[in-house]
Amino acid sequence: MVRIPVPSPQTPDPSVAPRTFSAIDINLACPVRKISAKARGGHWLREPEGAIDILRAVRAAVPESIPVTVKLRRGSDDSPQAERNFYRIFDALFDLGCAWTTVHGRTVEQKYVGPSRWTFLRDLVRARPGRLVFGSGDVWEVRDIFRMLAYTGVQAVSVARGCIGNPWIFRQARAMMDGAPPAPPTLDEQRAVLREHFDLSVAVNGEGGASLMMRKFGVRFAAHHPRAEEVRRRFIAVESIDGWRRVLDEEYAPAVPEPALLT
Ligand SMILES: Cc1cc2nc3c(=O)[nH]c(=O)nc-3n(C[C@H](O)[C@H](O)[C@H](O)COP(=O)(O)O)c2cc1C
Repeated sequence: MVRIPVPSPQTPDPSVAPRTFSAIDINLACPVRKISAKARGGHWLREPEGAIDILRAVRAAVPESIPVTVKLRRGSDDSPQAERNFYRIFDALFDLGCAWTTVHGRTVEQKYVGPSRWTFLRDLVRARPGRLVFGSGDVWEVRDIFRMLAYTGVQAVSVARGCIGNPWIFRQARAMMDGAPPAPPTLDEQRAVLREHFDLSVAVNGEGGASLMMRKFGVRFAAHHPRAEEVRRRFIAVESIDGWRRVLDEEYAPAVPEPALLT
């Protein structure tokens, strides 16, 4: 067991510690081997007392006005002990003053294989009424957000892989909340987002890195295109920045001509 020293609460001096964040989310869920093997992320679901020490230390160190939240999976594995560990951490995080938890309905052992267990989320909400729980797992399109809310009773839903290549899922959710149908993105909107995404990727990864990196995003974005399969194939075949530009220029040509793409 790893014991974490608990610092005493401090009131930061705004002149030396400018506030640069609005919340702190502690990840006790990451299943990636190189993370959990270093006693990070999902590792802590196997060591609830150590996890609670971390939560206590962070909550004490962060100004009270800033919410501390926690990301969990439903357990380290499918054992009854893992479930007990989950509930031990769940109850403690609220006792310590954390604001809410996002619970992914897969185990750490499961990684991303197999379904997220929404029944676990439903039972959790029933067992702990009044606790603020966000649900996570298997939210692939906008209607899944409302399915999860209705089925599990969680107060909020966290969108993950469902927004890769589909940032419009959030405005679609807003529309559905207002009783309107979820509008698909126009080709102009798709082009604008692809272009912005590419420019940001170039800034981070350089041109060579971006054209490779954007292949996998292009494949996901292609699903919205009227000729989805053909555009998907073209994104997969992209090997250079010029290849990327060609797909964008030819498949996402603006209805009204605009200045040169990807300057
Ligand atoms: C590439 C990738 C990166 C992720 N990074 C984080 C992360 O930094 N923090 C976090 O809490 N969850 C992270 N997650 C987990 C997601 O938030 C979410 O719990 C999980 O993907 C299950 O939801 P989904 O089945 O709807 O994708 C990540 C997931 C993926 C696929």
